[in-house]
Amino acid sequence: MSKENSKRDILVTNALPYANGPLHIGHLLEHIQSDIWVRYQRLIGNNCTYICGEDAHGTAIMLKAEENKLSPEELIEQVKISHMEDFLAFNISHDNYHTTHSEENRFFSEIIFTRLKEKGFIEEREIEQLFDTERQIFLSDRYVKGTCPSCGAEDQYGDNCEICSSTYSATDLIDPISVITETKPEIKKSSHLFFKLSDLKSEIKDWLDNALVPRQALNKLSEWIDGDLKDWNISRDEPYFGFKIPGYPGKYFYVWLDAPIGYLASHKNYLDKLDKAEDFDLYWGIDSKAELYHFIGKDIMYFHALFFPAMLLKSDFRQPSGVFIHGFLTVDGQKMSKSRGTFILASTYREILDPVYLRYYFAAKLGTGVDDIDLNLEDFCQRANSDLVGKFINIGSRTAKFINENFKNKLSKTVHNEALINEFIDRSSVISEAYENREFNKAIREIMFLADKANRYIDKMEPWVLFKDKKNKDLVQSVCTTSLNLFRLMAIMLSPVIPTLSEKIYLFLNIKFPQWNDMNKILLNHEIGVYKPLLTRIEMDKIEKIREKSKEL
Ligand code: 2FM
Ligand code: ZN
Repeated sequence: MSKENSKRDILVTNALPYANGPLHIGHLLEHIQSDIWVRYQRLIGNNCTYICGEDAHGTAIMLKAEENKLSPEELIEQVKISHMEDFLAFNISHDNYHTTHSEENRFFSEIIFTRLKEKGFIEEREIEQLFDTERQIFLSDRYVKGTCPSCGAEDQYGDNCEICSSTYSATDLIDPISVITETKPEIKKSSHLFFKLSDLKSEIKDWLDNALVPRQALNKLSEWIDGDLKDWNISRDEPYFGFKIPGYPGKYFYVWLDAPIGYLASHKNYLDKLDKAEDFDLYWGIDSKAELYHFIGKDIMYFHALFFPAMLLKSDFRQPSGVFIHGFLTVDGQKMSKSRGTFILASTYREILDPVYLRYYFAAKLGTGVDDIDLNLEDFCQRANSDLVGKFINIGSRTAKFINENFKNKLSKTVHNEALINEFIDRSSVISEAYENREFNKAIREIMFLADKANRYIDKMEPWVLFKDKKNKDLVQSVCTTSLNLFRLMAIMLSPVIPTLSEKIYLFLNIKFPQWNDMNKILLNHEIGVYKPLLTRIEMDKIEKIREKSKEL
């Protein structure tokens, strides 16, 4: 915990990826978004902890393990390693990457369940569900298909119809078929545990009134709360992969109960490793002054903005300060598709292209809204090339060589255009505000506006022409020193987005990793390193390679 009053203590989480398959670029959109925000918070000196982990329970993982002839434990361990490798390659700076299949998570799931039960918020009820007699398993909505009872459309899942959008119970489907064995399921009774969410409408609303949640999402959430907010079934019958519910033989916690509790578990695991167990209550206790933010996609806001805050409230933990919700990722204007080669795995992308381009492109597109974000592959190529290489890197590459070749790598003692440098420094407050508010598209627009200015300054001064006349030697040095200072400022401003490229620039400039406040200093009379090409343009054939490889999946 920070002891300095001015520093904020912030805990950030991502949706925990399911441990049953590789990461794709849709996952990366969210992790890059939160990583940019986390890096920005650290850069301005806040105490920001960033945690994540595997979402390891549930029927899907159990069946996938069986299919691969592995135990669920083996599967989730393998997938965890592959996810961590991808996150590392994309420079996602999680402080801790844990798993929901952990003792910490069992501990918190049991505590939360017990407290909810003691307070009268858990009720046992008998319900009817579809049962696959061949596989001897109750079928959740995603494991049964049939004809929509409203419009008659065939091949619809057990919860809602993709054709007419009506919602229903799986037992209402006409001619249901088990997705697992393709046999006709039977209706069977079983008793289940329900979290009485419907009793908590006004308390969830109170929380929503004070939490940071995108306006567009608030409308949807209010509709749910004011509509028919049903109690939530938090138990599942065996066979299931998860935690057994104490006192209820044969029953397991539903994966969506223990998944968000995984945030507490991952944080606890992190603090224990740091020998700072005492900090846990400072973050999760009811009177916590720390900020807690969840970055998630719009498909899971129901769980994060209704169920989870309600669970925390009635189990004596603090509630989230905000839930930051993003839209889905489309590629070339459409849902990602294997046949079009646009279902791009994180590993496919990183084998072929530097993650820096994707981080930049996502930042240029991300705002605070929940609208979908499109990765248009041609636009991606063109934008990364023109902004990153053509505008930004160009500032360094066209001026560094004069300092390297003619001034023994030494910057001048004064700059030629201090006013321009000060203009950049002044503008950093607007950029800072944009980062804070997660308007990364605005931050990028502002920074590129500065890049254009820096390039116009170099165009106007023409150091390559000045250089031809010996009497301009000092001027050339101070013009290039001005330019490299602008380059340094922009590297700092962009560092939350493109950390590896900024680090290469710091190395070239021979400076230590700066904080945001270090922008106030001007580099003078300082020896820089020798400039080497920092980033090349993306060739269109690389994009084709990505498409081809993605089609092979
Ligand atoms: O939708 C998903 O991918 C889930 N695995 C997210 C879980 S988030 C949290 F609750 F763990
Ligand atoms: Zn229908």
